[in-house]
Amino acid sequence: MSEHASSSRQSSGSSRESKAPAGQKMWGGRFAGGPDAVMTTINASIDIDQRLAAADIAGSKAHATMLAATDIISVQDRDAILRGLDQILGEIERGDMAFDPALEDIHMHVEARLTELIGDAGRRLHTARSRNDQVATDFRLWLRDALDQITASTEALIAALLAQAEAYADTVMPGFTHLQTAQPVTLGHHLMAYVEMFTRDAGRLGDTRARLNECPLGAAALAGTGFPIDRHMTAEALGFDRPMANSLDAVSARDFALEALSTLSILGVHLSRLADEIVLWATAPFNFIVLSDRFSTGSSIMPQKRNPDAAELIRAKVGRMAGNFQALLIVMKGLPLAYSKDMQEDKRPVFEAVDDTALTLAAMTGMIEDLKVNTEAMRAAASGGFSTATDLADWLVRALGMPFRDAHHVTGAIVKRAEDLGVTLDAVPLADMQAIHSAITEDVFSVLSVDASVASRNVYGGTAPDQVRAQVAAKRKG
Ligand code: ARG
Repeated sequence: MSEHASSSRQSSGSSRESKAPAGQKMWGGRFAGGPDAVMTTINASIDIDQRLAAADIAGSKAHATMLAATDIISVQDRDAILRGLDQILGEIERGDMAFDPALEDIHMHVEARLTELIGDAGRRLHTARSRNDQVATDFRLWLRDALDQITASTEALIAALLAQAEAYADTVMPGFTHLQTAQPVTLGHHLMAYVEMFTRDAGRLGDTRARLNECPLGAAALAGTGFPIDRHMTAEALGFDRPMANSLDAVSARDFALEALSTLSILGVHLSRLADEIVLWATAPFNFIVLSDRFSTGSSIMPQKRNPDAAELIRAKVGRMAGNFQALLIVMKGLPLAYSKDMQEDKRPVFEAVDDTALTLAAMTGMIEDLKVNTEAMRAAASGGFSTATDLADWLVRALGMPFRDAHHVTGAIVKRAEDLGVTLDAVPLADMQAIHSAITEDVFSVLSVDASVASRNVYGGTAPDQVRAQVAAKRKG
C-alpha cells in the first residue's frame, strides 16, 4: 500500500483538527453536564479490565499498523502510535500508570495516555474501530493465553499422576461403589482414572481455544466500518485464524467466555473429586496417605492434627467456579444484539475462574507429587469387606460351570458364613464352603487373595498392574 495521502487518510496538523477541552469525556461531545459520582463508579471497569492492558496494546498496534497499510493514517502517525503504545505498556508493567475511574476502562486509559504522549496522532487510533470490537478482541487474546497456561498446568498435573500411578501400579487398595468396599483395585489404576479425566479436560481446553481464535476487530460498533480496512491483516497479526464473519456476532458473542467457564468448571469438578478423596484418605480411620508438611496445616488447639486444608480449599473453590459460569450465563441470556453494557460484567467471572484454576492446579500437582502412601493400610482395607466375593462367584462359574446368578447366590451364603466366623473369605475352611456347595475344591483359594483378584483383571482398561503399566506408557507416548 502506498504511503501517500488517499481520500480517506486523515493527516495530522490539518486546520479542521479539533482538540477536546481538557477533562472532557472521550464521548462527551453531546453532553452539557458531567456524570454523577455514582454513575462514574457504576460505569467504571478499570479495576477489573486493567488486566487486559497488554492485549489492548497488542490489538492497538495491529490496528494502527493496518490503518497505515490501508492508507487511512500516515506512516508518521503510525510510528508515533507504535512508539507511544510501547512506552505505555512499559509504564503499566512498572505500575507507573495511575488508574482513574473517570476514564472508565483500560481502552480509554491507553488512548488518553497516548494522546498525552503523542498528541493528535493518538486521537487517530480509534478510527474505524469501537470499544465494542476492541474489548471483544482484547478479551479473546487474553483468554487464549490464559487457556494455554492452564493447559500446560493440566499437563504438569497429568505428569505427576503418571509418575505416582507407575510407582503404585502394584499397590492394592479397596475399590468402592456407594463408598462401600466393592472389589480390590490398584492405586495406580485409581490414579489413572484421573489421568483420563484431566486428559479430556486438556482436550476441552484445546477445543475452547480453537473455537475462540477468531478476530472481532474491524466489526467496529456493530455494523462494520466505511473505512477500507483490512480485517485479514489484523487477524493474522494477532495470531487469529481468521476475522469473525459477522460484525453483529463479533461484538456481541460471549460464548467463548461461557465455553471457557464451562471447561474450567468441569476441570474444577475433577480437581474437587480428587481433593475429596485426598481428604478422605488422609483421615485417621482410612489412614491411606500422609499429607506432606508442605501441603497440610496444624490446628491451633489440637496438637495431633494435620489438616488437608489445600485439598479442602480446592474442593470449595470449585463452588465459586461453577457460580461464575452461572453468573455469566445469566448476564447473557436476555441480551438483544448487539453490544449492551451488561457485557462489561463478563470479565470478572472469567478472571476469577482462571486464577482459581491456576492456583488449584498448582496445589493439586504439589500434593500429588508429595503423596506418601501407607501401602499396608491400603492392603488391609482391600482385604476387608469380603472384597473378593466377585472373584469367588466368577470361580464357581469357571470351575463348576454354574450360571452366574446361582454362583452369586452360593457366594452370598459363603460370605454369610465368613461373617459369622468373623474371618475374611480366604480364611473360611474348605469344609464350611463344601457344606454350602459340595463341588467346591481347594483350587478356590487361588482366587481369593486381593493380589490374585487384581492380577486377574488383566483386560484392556482393567485394574491389573500390567494394564496400569501399559496405560502409563501409552499416556506418556501421547
Ligand atoms: N468497558 C467496556 C466493556 O468492557 C468496553 C466497551 C464499551 N462499549 C460501549 N459501547 N460503551 O464492555
